[in-house]
Amino acid sequence: MNAKPVAKAAGLNKRIGALRGAFAARFGDEMRFFRTLIDEPRAVGALLPTGPAMATKMASVVRPENPASVLELGPGTGVITKAVLARGLAPAKLVCIEFSPEFAGMMRARYAGVKVIEGDAFDLDAALGERRGETFDCVVSGLPLLNFPAASRIRLIADLLDRIPAGRPVIQFSYGPKPPVPAQPGRFTVARHAVVLRNVPPAQIWIYRKPAGIA
Ligand SMILES: C[S@@+](CC[C@H](N)C(=O)[O-])C[C@H]1O[C@@H](n2cnc3c(N)ncnc32)[C@H](O)[C@@H]1O
Repeated sequence: MNAKPVAKAAGLNKRIGALRGAFAARFGDEMRFFRTLIDEPRAVGALLPTGPAMATKMASVVRPENPASVLELGPGTGVITKAVLARGLAPAKLVCIEFSPEFAGMMRARYAGVKVIEGDAFDLDAALGERRGETFDCVVSGLPLLNFPAASRIRLIADLLDRIPAGRPVIQFSYGPKPPVPAQPGRFTVARHAVVLRNVPPAQIWIYRKPAGIA
C-alpha cells in the first residue's frame, strides 16, 4: 500500500478529531441540552440553556452572607448555578432539585459541594427528604412552569413561599408575555424583575413574594 495517502488520511482524521473536540468543548452543554429536550420536551421546555446575562440577573437575589441555604429548581446544565456561586454563595449552602438523571449527574460532577437532589420539584417534601422542614433564604427557579397545569403552578409557588421568610423572593424566568403564575390576592404577589433581551429567546424574570403578615 502507498504510504503517502495513508499518512494523509491519518492527518485528516486527526484534524477532524481535533475539530470535533473543540466543538464539543464549546457547544457540549448545548448539545446535551438539545438531546435531553428531544427525550423530555415537556420537562426541558427550552431550546437552549439560559444565557449568562439572564443567569446573572436570576442570581442577583442571592444573599451569600445570609446563613440560610438557597434552593434552586431545575438547574439543567448549571448555568444559573454558576452565577449563584459567582456571587459568593458557599457551595454547601446551595440545594438543587433536578428531575433529569443526566442533568443531575452532570451537576454533581461539575459542582462539588453543592447538594444535588434528583427529584421532582412539584413534590418538594419527598425530594428534600430530611431537609423538608428547612427554611431557605430564597428560591431560584429555572422550571419550565408553563408546561405544567395552572393549579399545580399556583400550588408550587405557594409551597415555595412557605419555605422562605415572608418578603424574600421566589425568582422565575419565563418566555411568555405574562407571569407564568398570576398573583393570588391575599396569598402572594408577583412583580416583573427584568426583561432580558440578551437571551435566546428573550425572556422576562418574575419575582413572587409573600407579604409580611401573611402566615
Ligand atoms: C428550561 S430548563 C432550564 C435549565 C437551566 N436552569 C437553565 O436555565 O439553562 C428546565 C429544567 O428544569 C428541569 N425540570 C423539569 N421539570 C422538573 C421537575 N418537576 N423537578 C425538577 N426539575 C425539573 C429540566 O430537567 C431542566 O433541567
